[in-house]
Amino acid sequence: FDMTNKEKFRPVYHHTPAYGWMNDPNGMFYKDGVYHLYFQYNPYGSMWGNMHWGHSTSTDLTHWNYEGVALAPDAWGAIFSGSCVVDKENTAGFGKDAVIAFYTSAKPSPWGDVQSQSMAYSLDNGKTFTKYEHNPILTSTERDFRDPKVFWYAPGKHWVMMLAVGQHMEIYSSVNLKEWKKESEFGAMQGAHGGVWECPDLVEVKVEGTSQKKWVLICNLNPGGPFGGSAAQYFVGSFDGKEFVNESPTQTKWLDWGKDNYATVTWSNAPEGRCIALGWMSNWQYANNIPTLQYRSANTIARDLTLYRSGEELYLKSTPSAEIKKARTDKVSVPSFRVSGPYEVKSLLPSNEGAYEIEMTLNNAGASKITFSLLNDNGEKVTMYYDVLRKQFAMDRSESGEVSFSKDFPALTVAPVADTKGDIRLRLFVDRSSVEAFGEDGKFAMTNLVFPSAPYNRMVFDSGTGKFTVKSLTVYKLQ
Ligand code: FRU
Repeated sequence: FDMTNKEKFRPVYHHTPAYGWMNDPNGMFYKDGVYHLYFQYNPYGSMWGNMHWGHSTSTDLTHWNYEGVALAPDAWGAIFSGSCVVDKENTAGFGKDAVIAFYTSAKPSPWGDVQSQSMAYSLDNGKTFTKYEHNPILTSTERDFRDPKVFWYAPGKHWVMMLAVGQHMEIYSSVNLKEWKKESEFGAMQGAHGGVWECPDLVEVKVEGTSQKKWVLICNLNPGGPFGGSAAQYFVGSFDGKEFVNESPTQTKWLDWGKDNYATVTWSNAPEGRCIALGWMSNWQYANNIPTLQYRSANTIARDLTLYRSGEELYLKSTPSAEIKKARTDKVSVPSFRVSGPYEVKSLLPSNEGAYEIEMTLNNAGASKITFSLLNDNGEKVTMYYDVLRKQFAMDRSESGEVSFSKDFPALTVAPVADTKGDIRLRLFVDRSSVEAFGEDGKFAMTNLVFPSAPYNRMVFDSGTGKFTVKSLTVYKLQ
């Protein structure tokens, strides 16, 4: 295949396959300074099908090298989503430090896919895998039975497998990674149930300002997201190695308030106790129809997850992983200015290739709506605003460029914000065909695809009848 890029929408600093279709991130693990990322991959075309695991590696979570196909379909079926562990104590007997992949084998049959769990091991740091000779390791009569997330539960000295089954999760345990015992179920009566639960994760996350950690169960669901289609919800609680207890059963908590952050899971074995998450930057409503051909879909930027308290509740904060700062090259700082009515910043970057970060601090002085848009010279724009009274941040992509490929694409997405008093900090990551917004140092994240005919290189601010100040506005070109 010709791997030279032919796509104007291909992001610069987000991971994409050079050729072919990609969906969920799979099997991410960190070992010896290298971040491994596998992904649901069709190497033969840019629509979903023929699922393999593609493999890419990075040392900075930002620049990726494609390593080839790691797992290809076999007699048990296609290779659906899953996870990897590093078997430090050789509990499975494949070798010390073997990398072991768990995935769903999906075998077509006249009555639909038959889904079972399989495993494969690698003795060369995840480059090549050998399938386990006694696959599958877990079968069921359930139709949706998939996406194993395996991790070591140190206090109990055993492994745990989370599985998405229909609209609940199942938790299994094992001491040798081959034989699994069902311990519990979670979620039938909790959270959002607009669709099938998929791609689970269960991680211990630091609570900011304390020495405490809490367990967070990440649950992707499709459809049923807050703005239609697929989205990621999460639950915060406790876990004893067998059972997860959600500590605030009345609230649905969303990981991201845009339309394009799905199948989010975290890195296994991440350094320094970090919890690093990555999503698939698309939505099943239109993923197969986005206006690219050579490849389809990118991942989000990597995000470090922590918990913060707000009143009685604990919420996840998504902070762009610090490594992204290494992608900064040129920088333009706009001196602070006051907005009273409309105000235009005529140029963001002298040579704007559509890949940049905007970091800004706003300060309100009596505006009820703080509006700002990213625009190009073809009349296409992404409009964002803080609604001061409703305490919301919103992003409207209905005039962002190409939107007509799906009726579900034009959209206004909205996130709650704690406060619009004092300094309002926002980081926007724009990369040719996406905008990721991180507000309040990551208390909200909002990820939306956009397909402009030319890079947005202007900004228009508008304060309506009130006033606000743009205290700082820095644009970094990212590469
Ligand atoms: C989520 C998902 C998973 C499944 C995979 C198949 O996007 O539906 O549940 O394993 O995609 O590609």
